[in-house]
Amino acid sequence: MSADFVALASKRQGFCLFRWVLPLALCAACGSDDGSGRRPSLGPALPSTDVETESLACDDGLAVLDFDATERSLAEAYADDFKIGVAVSRGIASGRDDAAAALVAAQYNRATPENAFKWQSIQNVEGEFDFSQADAFLDFAESHGMEVHGHTLVWHQQVPGWVFEAPGGQTLTREALLARLDAHMAALATHLGARVQYWDVVNEAFNDQGQLNDTPWRRIIGPDYIEQAFLLAGRYFPQAKLVYNDFSMEQPGKRDAVAQMVRDFKARGVRIDAIGSQGHFRIDAPSLDAVAQSIEAFGEAGVEVLISEMDVDVLPPASDSQGADLSVNAALSARLNPYVDCLPAAVSERATARWADLFEVFVQHRETVASVTLWGVSDGYSWLNNWPVNGRTNYPLLFDRELRPKVAWQRLIEAAEASP
Ligand code: G3I
Repeated sequence: MSADFVALASKRQGFCLFRWVLPLALCAACGSDDGSGRRPSLGPALPSTDVETESLACDDGLAVLDFDATERSLAEAYADDFKIGVAVSRGIASGRDDAAAALVAAQYNRATPENAFKWQSIQNVEGEFDFSQADAFLDFAESHGMEVHGHTLVWHQQVPGWVFEAPGGQTLTREALLARLDAHMAALATHLGARVQYWDVVNEAFNDQGQLNDTPWRRIIGPDYIEQAFLLAGRYFPQAKLVYNDFSMEQPGKRDAVAQMVRDFKARGVRIDAIGSQGHFRIDAPSLDAVAQSIEAFGEAGVEVLISEMDVDVLPPASDSQGADLSVNAALSARLNPYVDCLPAAVSERATARWADLFEVFVQHRETVASVTLWGVSDGYSWLNNWPVNGRTNYPLLFDRELRPKVAWQRLIEAAEASP
């Protein structure tokens, strides 16, 4: 524990006591979310005589410090290891949340547009290009000196239906879809130029067993569509590093297929520079060994690794309840959304340890890992509040709904400062 942290802790006001040896934040900042995901109030006050008992039962487990953005920075702490990035939402880039924007500027040195560069955002109607979101994002990132990780050129989600349709309901030909992809990339290259340092060329093409997903891209162009996309991207974005991006890269089948694809591309002169391993981790899976093995497999194949969309999901798995309406099923809601008011101390401690353990693996592999990007600025901004079930309260990031740093943030900074 550093003296600076103690000094900062002592500045904390009123409702929140603070401990370092047992990092149990005794806050009860547990109101319900407003539209921004930010908590509107500090929530129910804890009885001042019995805070310890309360904290063991239900601790928001999150805020540990008054946050002074000038005091500590993740990006600075890890400057000798890798870049620290963040997904920036449309609202933040366009100036609708100054506090979150200041946090991004203070903590991160690489930015990914969460949705602004996706096909749907840029060319929702054929031939009608709308760069307003992309421009706002780029202006934001550049004004804060952040590198830009473009996301994403080829994906089967957030792409309008017309891309895969032929006039008159006919089947679109391979040549026609490749021409559409060519035109889309050409427009992006003309408009964005060299302002994008990394491009996710293809996103989420493989299943966990290492087979190609059955997507319109694959069906219409054929199994070489990934290669075709990289060839086009290499032509249009010669200055950018070209990335294949996917989740669950710790699954041996997917990991091996992607590593084999990299080796094959390199052997045949198809440029690929990096693998984006999304890093949508659960609190208890995958294993650290699997994370390490995946990084090593890609490093050995000859590319850098970007941990491109990191978060740590603390909620019970719910994929079998996708689309469930929690508002009409109290029992299901209690099971799947158990931390509506706050996070139990035991869970927040496990999450803190998980963040620390994962970053330790990344630092051990810093010769290969070029960046670690968090998928969202704070818990209130996370997609995991609405997936796979809408309307849950998750705690997957390093800043809480009030944009206060968590114990995990402190632990990561201290680990970086202590490392040689
Ligand atoms: O654009 C519409 C807007 O017009 C409408 O008013 C609003 C109402 O809900 O919805 C808006 O679209 C939303 C879009 O984000 C932009 O905000 C979609 O409903 C919503 O589903 C979409 O979610 C995004 C999701 O990708 C789509 O699959 C998340 O923000 C984004 O975090 C998430 O990111 C993906 C990565 O791109 C790829 N890897 C997985 C990751 C998490 O799913």
